[in-house]
Amino acid sequence: MSHPDPATADLIAAATAVRENAHAPYSRFKVGAAIRTADGRTFVGCNVENVAYPEGTCAEAGAIAAMCAAGARDVAAVAVIADSPQPVSPCGGCRQKLAEFSAGDVRVTLTTLDGTTLETTVAALLPGAFDQDYMSRV
Ligand code: THU
Repeated sequence: MSHPDPATADLIAAATAVRENAHAPYSRFKVGAAIRTADGRTFVGCNVENVAYPEGTCAEAGAIAAMCAAGARDVAAVAVIADSPQPVSPCGGCRQKLAEFSAGDVRVTLTTLDGTTLETTVAALLPGAFDQDYMSRV
């Protein structure tokens, strides 16, 4: 069990609460995500599965959608929680989605219900991310 700073603890608490709302009847693997934006707001998301399996969406994607819908774009910190043996590893698609809104060194706290925690960053999760620089000739 680690002892996160108060702001991170708040973000984990938000992710933990929204995880309860996950719609995960197929995997039974509930995930919660919370994003704090640069202006101090918090946005949350949970995974939402579908009987047409590929239509399911990840918790991180839900939090990003909520953030954008509210007009925010600037991710400052992220927390993701699941009931997993080790901190859950965001999928490749969600790493790219987070990178879209993460300038600089955005901290990502990955944690389990029993408190096993891994601190990383969006940049560390997706080295060599595709970004607009690659489109400079367009
Ligand atoms: N899932 C997330 O929501 N976030 C992650 O970081 C990893 C996986 C979801 C997708 C699916 O609903 C379930 O977990 C099992 O893959």
